[in-house]
Amino acid sequence: MACTLEADSLYKEYPGGVVAVKGVSLKAGQGRTSLMGPNGSGKTTTLSMLAGALKPSRGVVRVCGYDLWGGEWIEARKHIGYAPQRMPFREKLSGMENLIWYGLLRGLGLSESRRRARSLSEELGLSEYINRSVASYSGGMRRRLSLAAALMGDPDVLILDEPTSGLDPRAREELWHLIEVSLKDLTIVFSTHISVEAELHSDYVYIFNEGVIVTEGRPGELIEKHAPKPRIIVYVRGDAEPLPVNGVKPEVVARGVYMYPVEDPREGIRRIVDAYSLHGVAVERIETRRPGLEEVFFTVTGRRLEEG
Ligand SMILES: Nc1ncnc2c1ncn2[C@@H]1O[C@H](COP(=O)(O)OP(=O)(O)OP(=O)(O)O)[C@@H](O)[C@H]1O
Ligand SMILES: [Mg+2]
Repeated sequence: MACTLEADSLYKEYPGGVVAVKGVSLKAGQGRTSLMGPNGSGKTTTLSMLAGALKPSRGVVRVCGYDLWGGEWIEARKHIGYAPQRMPFREKLSGMENLIWYGLLRGLGLSESRRRARSLSEELGLSEYINRSVASYSGGMRRRLSLAAALMGDPDVLILDEPTSGLDPRAREELWHLIEVSLKDLTIVFSTHISVEAELHSDYVYIFNEGVIVTEGRPGELIEKHAPKPRIIVYVRGDAEPLPVNGVKPEVVARGVYMYPVEDPREGIRRIVDAYSLHGVAVERIETRRPGLEEVFFTVTGRRLEEG
């Protein structure tokens, strides 16, 4: 069963004075909510405060109505499953033994832990490897095992920090498929620094920059609101200066790489190529870019999101 996860005005100052999170408020219900933002924007710090793993300097977290940091940690924590960016598995033990360990930590008995570990490993496609040592696992297997470990306590709220980082695109899609099919009834909050991932896999996104939420909404609505136009990117020969087209000055992406917002991509390409050829400048390559959360981030912060 899903229930609500809420945060009100969370702050975190680390020892040494770094204020990593500066007044974050959010709310997540059934479905997938993402925290998207560049490296160092405060996603992990926020998620670990939501998960009960890091005490906020200030602010309130409510999990299924329980005040996590206000005296109801034990009750609240029962409802949470948390897969941190790097799960601290015992490498020499098997996947099964690690899962049983997480079950025992959550207060399940040995036979219940074993039963649940077996059913989760089947559900998550891990059965074949479950008796091998975790040291021999691939990145994809490790990610699935993290998910299984986070699910051992049968949580209502699942917190996943960069659940697909380090995976190739195919393994990433497989993991998302699994999450979307098997876990659709839960409240899932995950972080990612990949805008396309937030766009494709979240119902609602909070965009982070420098410890604050700069905008939030359904991905489609944010794109509609902040980045409604397609973009044409031209790569021109040599050091040719950017040219205005239809009175629109392009954004300079790099030397010789200019980006134009257009209404109609076909028409836009024609006009841009015409403008440069009129000045005797050869256009070497043209790309059309559908607007996405990457453009939303740029519109809102004036900064480029480093993708990767
Ligand atoms: N234990 C710590 N002590 C001091 N500063 C920290 C600590 N952990 C994180 N920070 C700082 O807090 C800020 C936010 O870090 P955080 O890990 O929450 O960001 P993030 O959005 O998860 O980044 P990434 O995409 O790289 O995982 C950064 O400036 C980071 O250097
Ligand atoms: Mg992080």
